[in-house]
Amino acid sequence: MLFKKSIPQLLAEANESGEGTLKRSLTSFNLVALGVGAIIGAGLFSLTGIAAADNAGPAVILSFIIAAVGCGFAGLCYAEFASMIPVAGSAYTYSYATMGEFMAWIIGWDLVLEYALSAATVASSWSQYFSQFLLEFGIHFPQNLLHGPWEGGIINVPAIVIVCLLSLLLMRGTKDSSSVNNVLVIVKVAVVLIFIILGWSFINPANHHPFIPVNPGEDAVKAGTRGFMEFFSSDDFGHFGISGVLRGAGVVFFAFIGFDAVSTAAQEAKNPQKGMPIGIIGSLIVCTLLYVLFSYVMTGLENYTKFAGDAKPVATAFAQTGYTFLNRFLMIAILAGYTSVILVMLLGQSRVFYSMSKDGLLPKIFSDLHPKNQTPWKTNLVFMVFVSIFTGFVPVSDLGHMVSIGTLFAFSLVCIGVLILRKTNPELERPFRTPWVPLVPILGIVVCVLMMASLPIVSWERLAIWMALGVVIYYAYSKKHSKIRKEYNDSLLK
Ligand code: ALA
Repeated sequence: MLFKKSIPQLLAEANESGEGTLKRSLTSFNLVALGVGAIIGAGLFSLTGIAAADNAGPAVILSFIIAAVGCGFAGLCYAEFASMIPVAGSAYTYSYATMGEFMAWIIGWDLVLEYALSAATVASSWSQYFSQFLLEFGIHFPQNLLHGPWEGGIINVPAIVIVCLLSLLLMRGTKDSSSVNNVLVIVKVAVVLIFIILGWSFINPANHHPFIPVNPGEDAVKAGTRGFMEFFSSDDFGHFGISGVLRGAGVVFFAFIGFDAVSTAAQEAKNPQKGMPIGIIGSLIVCTLLYVLFSYVMTGLENYTKFAGDAKPVATAFAQTGYTFLNRFLMIAILAGYTSVILVMLLGQSRVFYSMSKDGLLPKIFSDLHPKNQTPWKTNLVFMVFVSIFTGFVPVSDLGHMVSIGTLFAFSLVCIGVLILRKTNPELERPFRTPWVPLVPILGIVVCVLMMASLPIVSWERLAIWMALGVVIYYAYSKKHSKIRKEYNDSLLK
């Protein structure tokens, strides 16, 4: 039998108030800021240069647009769910209502890859920027304290420190964290705008030509001198040409991850019916506009070939403007940007585990709230340790792919969930309706699966291992402690 949560039950939970519940303190503006806080980070400031140099050239702008369209389909599905089921668990909770307990567990477990691991990934990049920043003042941070043992170092100390500081902030309270986040978001959006505005008049149109650099392999396929499958499985695929633009979209997808984190804060939104769709779609639109303009300016300032292997592509591009005295500000703002991503990802992670624990699928400590701050501080503490281990010791180069595959999997399930709930519960009030159902959810699934397919096989293997571990825990613990099952069994005994 499929154990599902009923929507009225979820809504009753969402409306609970008082002791032991999360506080409703976030306005629509806070929610958009939360989304932007989670979205703009390593993806924009590091991957734009990599995707331009290796995959798409100046057409990285198109890669951003393609990734945005894919996220837009999933975002519209998220918005429908988040406005009708405004509880803390995001995709986990939606799956509980539509696909049953087992799928809900799978998705909740999978979201660790998105939230906790992206916090770890971004914290690691944060530490590289931090050491570059110290260099501006002539301070050399010891290299072996900047990298884990698999990258020739001992431990990544700054990354661990930033994760611990932000976890402590989260334990203090959502309102404080949100205020800090607002400041960080203003700083990082300011730097993106400054880059675009100051850079615009220094664009050299020659750098935008050719817009899509030629891929000789693609030309050979067109001319009929090379088979498509041979080209597809060769190293030429994805290096410029149309295939490069598509591969570039897979790379910069990381830059959009995080808009769904808005939905994890649904239970803390003042007016979730209105605030959720505004927060999710609003932050996605704001970021897409900024990304397109930013990548246009960046590839216009400097030739895309110059970004190959460059750890600071934004600074390289900005050097063409003559405003180099702003370099330090630029670095601080980028550090601020990364910081807010880590903060919101850690917040989202704790809220997902909070919900899973409330349902009995995880031990109770994950939903214990601090008596004064009303935050799930023990969960924050557990993830402080977990994320610190990853960011401190594990090489992050592969982590990014794990984050992407886990996120795409979650997005696909949310799209499937909208289709299911429209069939099973058409009568339910939907403050926000995904347009053109079933087309939009189906396109969302197709785009997500295609992007997953473009990821290396090793990330599929790791996903499978992580999920297998999840299944073991489900049967060993969660199934036995599930509240819904317990209520059902109790009702049979009566
Ligand atoms: N979207 C986030 C970033 O780019 C994860 O850092």
